[in-house]
Amino acid sequence: MLNDFLTYLCQTSPEPLALEIERAEGIYLYTKDGRRYVDFISGIGVANIGHGHPAVRAAIVQQLAKHLHVMVYGEYVQEAQVKFAKRLCELAPIDDGVVFFCNSGAEAIEGALKTARKFTGRTKYVAFEGGYHGDTFGALSAMSSAYYRKPFEPLLGEFEFFPFDDLNALQRIDDSVAAVLFEPVQGEAGVRVPSQNFLSALRERCNAVGALMIADEVMTGFGRTGKLFACEHWNVRPDIMCLAKALGGGLPLGAFIGRREIMQTLSQNPPLAHVTTFGGHPLSCAAGLAALEVLFEEKMIERSARNGEQFLSRLRQELHEHKAVKEVRGLGSFFAIEFQNEHATQQFVQNCRAAGLIIGWTLHRTTVVRAAPPLCMNGEEVQDALAIIYEAMKAL
Ligand SMILES: Cc1ncc(COP(=O)(O)O)c(C=O)c1O
Repeated sequence: MLNDFLTYLCQTSPEPLALEIERAEGIYLYTKDGRRYVDFISGIGVANIGHGHPAVRAAIVQQLAKHLHVMVYGEYVQEAQVKFAKRLCELAPIDDGVVFFCNSGAEAIEGALKTARKFTGRTKYVAFEGGYHGDTFGALSAMSSAYYRKPFEPLLGEFEFFPFDDLNALQRIDDSVAAVLFEPVQGEAGVRVPSQNFLSALRERCNAVGALMIADEVMTGFGRTGKLFACEHWNVRPDIMCLAKALGGGLPLGAFIGRREIMQTLSQNPPLAHVTTFGGHPLSCAAGLAALEVLFEEKMIERSARNGEQFLSRLRQELHEHKAVKEVRGLGSFFAIEFQNEHATQQFVQNCRAAGLIIGWTLHRTTVVRAAPPLCMNGEEVQDALAIIYEAMKAL
C-alpha cells in the first residue's frame, strides 16, 4: 500500500508521514501495523470534537438515507443546509449574518475577497506578514512569504502586507482598501497571539476608512482557542468570517458568513456571479451541525480552555530552563513550542511520534512545533500527552 501511495498519489512533500491509517476514534489514530497514536494536531484542526463521534456518524447515516447531492448550491431548499446556516448565524459574531457554503478554507477566502471587492467597488487588500489563508491563487496572493509566492507569480497584484500586531502600521490602511484579511491568532506563523488592543484597533481603523474586516477563523474556529470563535476573545465583530476545517465535523465543508447587506451583492449584477456545485453538501452540513451541538453538549469549549491552560502552564513550568526551548505560547488548545534551532524541532517531533503522539511543525517557522489537540481530551489523556512531551524533551 505504501508503494502504491508513493506511486499513484501526487506527492506534495519529500518526506510524507505515510502512516497507514486503519481507523480513527476519539483522540486516537490506529495504524495498520497495530500502533496507536494520539492525534495531537486533530488532523490539522479538523477533529476538534475527536474522530468519529457517534452523534456525527448517526447524523451522516440519517442524511444518507434521505439524499446526497441534488443540485448546485443555492437553488433547492435542503433542510441540512438551512438548519446549519440558521444555527451558525445565531452563533457567529456577525451582525445580521447570512452564510455562503463552499467546500474548503481556501474557497471561503476566495469568496470573501470577491465579495469585498464587489461590495466596496475597491480593488486593494491588506493582509499580514506571516499569514496563511490557503493555496489557491487568491488565497496565495494574501500570503506574504516570498518562498511560497515566487514559483507562482504573477499573483493578484493589489495586496499590501503589514506587520502583524503593529498598531502604528494600521494607520496606513486608507480608503482605497476593500478589505483587511487577518487570522485572529496566526497559525502557520507559529501560533502568534496578538496583544490586547490589536484587533479592536483594526476594527476602528476599518470603520474609519470603510474597509471590510475579514476574519479567517478556518483554524481558530469551533472552540480551538477556548471560545467558539477566536474574535470573541477581543469582542471584535468582523464584517465577514471564513470557516472550514472543523466546520464539517470531519467532512469537507467551508463557509463565509457576512453581513446581509454585503452578501446580497452576490445575487446581483450579474446574478450567479459566485456559485459552486458541491458547496454545502448535505452530508457535510448534517455532520457539521451534529458536531457543533456536541461541542456545546459536551462542554468542549470550556474543556479546550481548561486543557489549554494546563498544557501552557505545565509546559512553561517544565521547559522554561530547557536549553533547546525558546518560548511556549498559545491560546486555549492552540499552542506552540518554539525551539532554538531546526534540528531540535525535528528531533522533538520524531521523538513524540516514536512514543505515539503526532505533532507537527509549521509552514513558515521551521523552529516552531504547533499543537492543536482534540478539545475532548480528559484529564488523564492530558497527563499522558504531557508525559510523552516531557520524555521527548529529555532526549534532546
Ligand atoms: C488559517 C487558515 N486559513 C485557510 C486555510 C486553507 O484551508 P483549506 O486547506 O481547507 O483550503 C488554512 C489551512 O490550513 C488555514 O490554516
